[in-house]
Amino acid sequence: MHNICIYIHIERERERQTDRERDSRLYIYRYIYWLSIFIYPYLHLQLSIVAKTKNMGFFKTESMVYKPVKEVDLGPESSEFYLRANVKAPRMAGILVKVFAWFLESRIFGTLLLYILKGNNLIHKLIRDAELEEPPIYTPLHPFEDLKEQDVKCIESDLSGPEQVRLAIDCLPVSLEKPLNGSNLPFYRWTISDYSKAYSSGEITPLVVAERFIAAVHESSSPPLQMSFFINYTAEDILSQAKESTLRYEKGAPISVLDGVPIAIKDEIDCMPYPTTGGTKWLHKQRPCTDDASCVKRLRLCGAILVGKTNMHELGAGTSGINPHYGAARNPYDPSRITGGSSSGSAALVAAGLCPAALGVDGGGSVRIPASLCGVVGLKPTFGRIPHSGVLPLNWTVGMVGILAGSIEDAFIVYAAMSGESPFHQSSMLPKLNLPKLNGTTPVNIKLAKSVEWFNDCSDDIRTCCDDALQKLHKHHGWKTVEVTIPEIEVMRLAHYLTIGSECSTSLSSYLQKLNFAELGWDARVALAVYGAFSGKEYIKAQQIRNRQMQFHKKIFAQADVIVAPTTGVTAYSILDDALNTGELDYVNGAALVRYSISGNFLGFPAVTVPVGYDKSGLPIGLQFIGRPWTEATLIHIAFAMQALCTSVYKKPEVFYDLLKNN
Ligand SMILES: *[C@@H]1O[C@H](CO)[C@@H](O)[C@H](O)[C@H]1NC(C)=O
Ligand SMILES: *[C@@H]1O[C@H](CO)[C@@H](O)[C@H](O)[C@H]1NC(C)=O
Ligand SMILES: *[C@@H]1O[C@H](CO)[C@@H](O)[C@H](O)[C@H]1NC(C)=O
Ligand SMILES: *[C@@H]1O[C@H](CO)[C@@H](O)[C@H](O)[C@H]1NC(C)=O
Repeated sequence: MHNICIYIHIERERERQTDRERDSRLYIYRYIYWLSIFIYPYLHLQLSIVAKTKNMGFFKTESMVYKPVKEVDLGPESSEFYLRANVKAPRMAGILVKVFAWFLESRIFGTLLLYILKGNNLIHKLIRDAELEEPPIYTPLHPFEDLKEQDVKCIESDLSGPEQVRLAIDCLPVSLEKPLNGSNLPFYRWTISDYSKAYSSGEITPLVVAERFIAAVHESSSPPLQMSFFINYTAEDILSQAKESTLRYEKGAPISVLDGVPIAIKDEIDCMPYPTTGGTKWLHKQRPCTDDASCVKRLRLCGAILVGKTNMHELGAGTSGINPHYGAARNPYDPSRITGGSSSGSAALVAAGLCPAALGVDGGGSVRIPASLCGVVGLKPTFGRIPHSGVLPLNWTVGMVGILAGSIEDAFIVYAAMSGESPFHQSSMLPKLNLPKLNGTTPVNIKLAKSVEWFNDCSDDIRTCCDDALQKLHKHHGWKTVEVTIPEIEVMRLAHYLTIGSECSTSLSSYLQKLNFAELGWDARVALAVYGAFSGKEYIKAQQIRNRQMQFHKKIFAQADVIVAPTTGVTAYSILDDALNTGELDYVNGAALVRYSISGNFLGFPAVTVPVGYDKSGLPIGLQFIGRPWTEATLIHIAFAMQALCTSVYKKPEVFYDLLKNN
């Protein structure tokens, strides 16, 4: 009965909404109405759950006492308890998100509601009131250690982008196949080398590719597909870059293997001539884009054609990739499903064959999650490896530019083009760049650390597929899996959430003051309300947890070269209609998506995801390798070996464009 009343009211509400928007008296009426029928029972229920299950007073919570790091056993038999994420928040979309946002934004009820939500999600117990002795560590910047990596070529000082790319190409195995003949694999995405060879041999020109690209983007953006890959692209700008590149090939003087290769940029990274929206309708008005970001500059100097700004979750404040302003990016393997986020468009268009590589930014798995869900490679380098200027400063200590690519070789080439000019290091201690010699031998005796309960905390299909992939590595290369326990993973997820949230709301605060909130999407409004609710004490406790985790991981890396885990706990889930205009809040799926991503951001480690198979519905599954700081070369070697063992099962997505072959 109660529900029926709510729904009738919702319908009426929808009809009247527009007329009412500015009528403040009715606004107040609506407010009180909703309070009485919706929020009150919700609060009441939540409070009674808290009171019953924890058997404690209203606003008291017990606190967690953490053992000193040296007393924590990281072995496979450790008594450390694996805490499954127990997210207490219902999925909300449509009008419910709106109501939720209104309440969170109200001073009194909002404060109460946030307090309860934080308590229910264990933030008080595990973080705010926690007793722990480690001092805080505020940034995940690791001093450069010259670890001896197997089979690498070392570049001692910063070279230019094109030179670094040339050295990277020398490390690739020579493919004997003629580029346009494809290969005998069931499915193959053209690589950067294929584009370059096809241009050099005159089989096709960058201009023709650009024209096909524009036609393909046009088709995929229009009904019935409406894939929403891009926030902005201009045919004129793409064609003019393609003409210049074509001229260079005609003169026999391409700048690098990237010359004429289409590369797309997440709309969080400055790239001329486009505004940088961050997935919003307003940020670019307050923060004009006046120059390329340094990573984009480096790609342009290599001759790449920068083909536009890709769709993203608004402000990167979510992992579904559903953007109420620019459309929900759709998964090429099944357009009724999400791409994952926040670098949603970048992952999807690489999967769809529109570009061999694209840039994303990874603050909480935002490159690796969509890469995994869309069946492509995602590489997030070590914190500080890629220059960060010209990227929206949505958060300072967890976000990093990353690469989405159709193959690990292409991720490697783009990585080589962008690495350098580390903003954090004095020139005397610049990290060296090691290039993996992929045409050499596969590294031997690689040890893969696996935290079993964590690894297994995913869907059955993902677990089976990732286990099989590890078996293959063992069988073909003799690599061993070392069982370890990574303690307090859920605590780390919460601490990272507090950190990214506090940094995001702080970095945007001057803009938000001037902002009419009606310009924000509803799910972003909820996120910002939650982000703004963390205290200084909570932030600092989170940084103490960062210190603990740094120490745990250091010990684990003393026993193993990399940590291995699935990339996500679930595969791409369906986009429901009610989420299209308001976005959705789905913290249960959200927690499963970010489950394996956190150490890459919070602790600054490099990480890579490689597609290893598909679930029963044919949706891609990724396996992730997380490395020691500055060992991207080893990660690329491992990913290359993994990819080679999986290419025979790769499938063509439902939505796919072949820009090189004339079909
Ligand atoms: C493809 O391979 C066949 C023989 O293997 C060769 O005759 C043909 O010229 C090749 N085509 C291209 C476009 O390289
Ligand atoms: C797209 O970019 C062009 C510049 O190339 C700019 O004039 C236009 O306003 C942008 N459109 C949107 C929707 O941001
Ligand atoms: C944090 O920043 C990174 C890039 O700076 C972005 O990808 C991510 O979505 C941001 N997350 C939040 C919650 O602001
Ligand atoms: C790898 O490529 C480089 C440069 O092309 C070459 O010097 C080297 O001999 C190659 N190594 C192997 C094992 O083929």
